[in-house]
Amino acid sequence: MKAIVVRDETAGTAGMELAECPQPEPAGNDVVVQVHASGFTRGELTWPGTWTDRLGRDRTPSIPGHELAGVVSELGYGTRGLSVGQRVFGLTDWTRDGTLAEYVAVEARNLAPLPGDIDFTVGASLPISGLTAWQGLFVHGRFEAGHTVLVHGAAGGVGSMVTQLAREAGAYLIGTGRATDRQAALDLGVQEFVDLDNDTLEDVGGVDLVFDVIGGDIGSRSAGLVRAGGMLVTIAGPPEARPADGLAVDFVVESDRTQLNEIAQRVRDGRLRVNIGSVASLDDAVAALNPTERIDGKTIIRVRP
Ligand SMILES: NC(=O)c1ccc[n+]([C@@H]2O[C@H](COP(=O)([O-])OP(=O)(O)OC[C@H]3O[C@@H](n4cnc5c(N)ncnc54)[C@H](OP(=O)(O)O)[C@@H]3O)[C@@H](O)[C@H]2O)c1
Repeated sequence: MKAIVVRDETAGTAGMELAECPQPEPAGNDVVVQVHASGFTRGELTWPGTWTDRLGRDRTPSIPGHELAGVVSELGYGTRGLSVGQRVFGLTDWTRDGTLAEYVAVEARNLAPLPGDIDFTVGASLPISGLTAWQGLFVHGRFEAGHTVLVHGAAGGVGSMVTQLAREAGAYLIGTGRATDRQAALDLGVQEFVDLDNDTLEDVGGVDLVFDVIGGDIGSRSAGLVRAGGMLVTIAGPPEARPADGLAVDFVVESDRTQLNEIAQRVRDGRLRVNIGSVASLDDAVAALNPTERIDGKTIIRVRP
């Protein structure tokens, strides 16, 4: 089968190449999915699981991309809950070959049915941003209706999902980002916007929950904004500063069928919008994932037309 592979950690996305790879075999409780659309997150190439397996052994050349939408083509021994021919979407294991490929083997529990009225391209754009937002707010963030939430990168992949989910759930939302993201963030539902290059972050006052996707200095300064009993949730690595009288949690997103179903339902009824910036074929994936200019929105690789 055709797939995108990476061999050199220092090369970044420029090291991606289109290659012929063996077809994956399903292990116990796996399905093999014929990939229709694949999502790739730039940060993956810095994550250890792209380069080594769970025992720390080199697993290059590895196939990146961990979001998928496609059709189940084969079941592994003991697999229950999904059937051959079923439309699915989900998030694959960080330490196994991924979804920038014609086929991928994945544990069935990491997938959910993809409703027939959600396009494969949309399905592949949802798992990482949708699950990360859901888990940061409702699993790790102790979010409650009425909380004031500071969302960094509010118009970005994860931030746009946080904004929409938190607004629906009754948050007062303060979004941040670049000046050019102001209108997009307001359209997604933030009540206030902080341009991180020109406004003063500290002017927002106290918040109950910070959802940080940026880290570094922005993350550290945000810790100081958390009210007593509040929470700093970050996906940008261990926080360099913690709230004086609150909690800090950094986490890595996991797949979850129930949460994927919740996200799909919100896409179907219009409560969640996705931002897909470009769509390219697998043959054109290396160029599409190494853009020469900024793409506003997620790049999806449409593996099957
Ligand atoms: N731990 C996890 O489980 C997990 C899960 C998903 C993602 N992540 C990581 O989380 C990060 C965000 O992911 P994403 O998909 O949401 O990325 P994204 O789509 O690029 O969104 C990030 C947003 O924040 C803005 N931003 C970043 N730095 C900024 C700064 N210094 N000042 C103002 N705005 C800034 C970006 O604007 P520009 O594009 O203009 O920079 C963009 O709008 C990535 O590093 C990703 O690898 C972690």
